[in-house]
Amino acid sequence: MLHKLIRRKPERQKQTLEERISHSKNEHIPSHIAIIMDGNGRWAKKRALPRVAGHHEGMKTVRKITRLANDLGVRALTVYAFSTENWKRPKLEVDFIMRLPEEFLGKYLPELIEQNVKVVMMGENETLPKHTQEAVRKAMEQTKENTGLVLNFALNYGSRAEIAQAMQKISQQIQLGTLDYTEVNEDLISQHLMTCDLPDPDLLIRTSGEVRLSNFMLWQLAYTEFWFTDTLWPDFDEDCLLDAVESYQKRNRRYGGLKGEETN
Ligand code: FPP
Repeated sequence: MLHKLIRRKPERQKQTLEERISHSKNEHIPSHIAIIMDGNGRWAKKRALPRVAGHHEGMKTVRKITRLANDLGVRALTVYAFSTENWKRPKLEVDFIMRLPEEFLGKYLPELIEQNVKVVMMGENETLPKHTQEAVRKAMEQTKENTGLVLNFALNYGSRAEIAQAMQKISQQIQLGTLDYTEVNEDLISQHLMTCDLPDPDLLIRTSGEVRLSNFMLWQLAYTEFWFTDTLWPDFDEDCLLDAVESYQKRNRRYGGLKGEETN
């Protein structure tokens, strides 16, 4: 009897992926999305697979998410593929990750070109294995004129090192007398970072339930909206990206100020 008295909420009809995409496109799309792709090891462990199997599956997620981000009209997608701290991992795992850009670009560069995606990289290039450098260099060269999504691989990247390097470049100019110290401001610092050609991220996503920045884009994330999810990176799919984008679209970004009606 009781069940007759409880008024059931009508079940919201589940939107198809296409409907969600077209709905999102009508709203404000984040220009730059940055992703800390975490949880590959745990994904593999849950399946009794070696950790590297998780990284391999994670590579396929990069392909899926790049395609959708481009389709949505996102201007730049930065993916944290390897940090300056990740060298501490077992050699076998490091060697495997260092082969992934080659495999990824070997398999998917033709479709990235077809999608008008421009591949770029930020991080310390010189200490990467030669084969990794070469794969990335080739992809950057072949896509440099593309005008669609910028796919930015953070590879051997550490934000503190990036900031320190920017400070060195600026100090050198002051020492040479080509710059006065009073000219050092926020814009000048931004121009000396590895992201000088990109806008600051509007949305940061970190997967796998970890809630930290791990030395990622510390300067650039000052006013970024954060989205954390328990989903492990290899399981992160188009619906997950749309969840993050839809949440972003509902937010009220104030940059430390007030919004219109609140100013009275
Ligand atoms: C963190 O998960 C993930 C990494 C350090 C590597 C990320 C790399 C990829 C997703 C593949 C990159 C793809 C290309 C195309 C270069 P974790 O190993 O720390 O996971 P855990 O916290 O579960 O152990």
